[in-house]
Amino acid sequence: MKTLRVKQLRLALVGALATGALLLSGLSSSAATGLSTTPANRSQSIDQPLRVLAQPLGLRVGTAVDMDALANDATYRARVSTEFSAVTAENVMKWETLEPARDVYNWGPADTLVDFARSNGQLVHGHVLLWHSQLPGWLTTGVADGSISAGELRTIVHDYITTVVRHFRGKIWQWDVVNEAFTDGDNPTLRDTIFLQNLGPNYIADALRWAHAADPKAGLWLNDYAIDNVNPKSTAYYELAKQLLAQHVPLTGMGFQGHLDLQYPIPSDAVDNLRRFDQLGLDTGFTEVDVRYFLPGDTYKTAGQVGSFTTLLQACLLTPRCEMFTLWGFTDRYSWIPKWSNNKEGEATPLDANFQPKPAYRALQQTLALADGSHKRHN
Ligand code: XIL
Repeated sequence: MKTLRVKQLRLALVGALATGALLLSGLSSSAATGLSTTPANRSQSIDQPLRVLAQPLGLRVGTAVDMDALANDATYRARVSTEFSAVTAENVMKWETLEPARDVYNWGPADTLVDFARSNGQLVHGHVLLWHSQLPGWLTTGVADGSISAGELRTIVHDYITTVVRHFRGKIWQWDVVNEAFTDGDNPTLRDTIFLQNLGPNYIADALRWAHAADPKAGLWLNDYAIDNVNPKSTAYYELAKQLLAQHVPLTGMGFQGHLDLQYPIPSDAVDNLRRFDQLGLDTGFTEVDVRYFLPGDTYKTAGQVGSFTTLLQACLLTPRCEMFTLWGFTDRYSWIPKWSNNKEGEATPLDANFQPKPAYRALQQTLALADGSHKRHN
């Protein structure tokens, strides 16, 4: 899938807009600046699907897909197929779903999504190979009661990664090989998972090597939350990435989940953060963007949400190899946030529960429409 990667530096958004320079510079300077200010571009409607607006920029816009909604809700299904150029399985490529009983694989739901994506010209972001959450009971119980030894767990992990990555070989754009490997706070360390405990800290390098052997063309990413800005946790990833690359471990990208919450500061230096990974030669992407707040909403929160979505999308557009901007659900009807927060927080996606566009959706459209035309994919 290398050909799909953005090969050329993608320069700036119309950053000058904030300073009013766009208005001052006038239409005639648009060719020189590369800004999308020609009358032709201006006359095109902004109200187009995100995938259409992003396509000339060499950027894929994705969503997590809820397979029950995809099967049962025609409006949802139609919107997934027309609005997005990439999809991620919200749950059906997690270990508990793929291997519910030992050596018994359940490919059906994931294969359905892969087929759906193919018929809609979408790429599939593989989520997720190793994660401490949503593991099958047979595995966690076996490790806990000692019936699965450390050595056996290593074999199980190797075989699982090999089986899954081979099954989807050629159909996955890039895998989240390890998800949420670091702890939070000021001094992040590798999270104390069954993988760290039993395979040791090199489990990350091993997982990447095993995945690479099973599908040499798939991108191989690490992925986490609360690393959107420059902070101790993202710096821990930066150091890990440098170390892995120095050891020729086949890491190709870094995924930033982008689960924002308006009670925390906006990650306004996300662009600096993505660019430092870019400068290591890694692909980057936002993998799970949503912006939650405490209910009920109000106009201030709506504005905060607009700013948050815009900040992340701009950071991506300003980073040469940022190749994907994926929403963790696109309608409040199916977002995971209310359930996860006991209905305290919600309204975290760009479309409301009736699939109507919120200001955040308009902001995404406008940000894409403003982006510089040099963001072209070179196959
Ligand atoms: C979430 C799903 O959205 C929920 O449906 C599920 O109950 C729990 O997991 N980080 C991740 C995702 O990497 O896999 C999580 O998805 C959200 C947080």
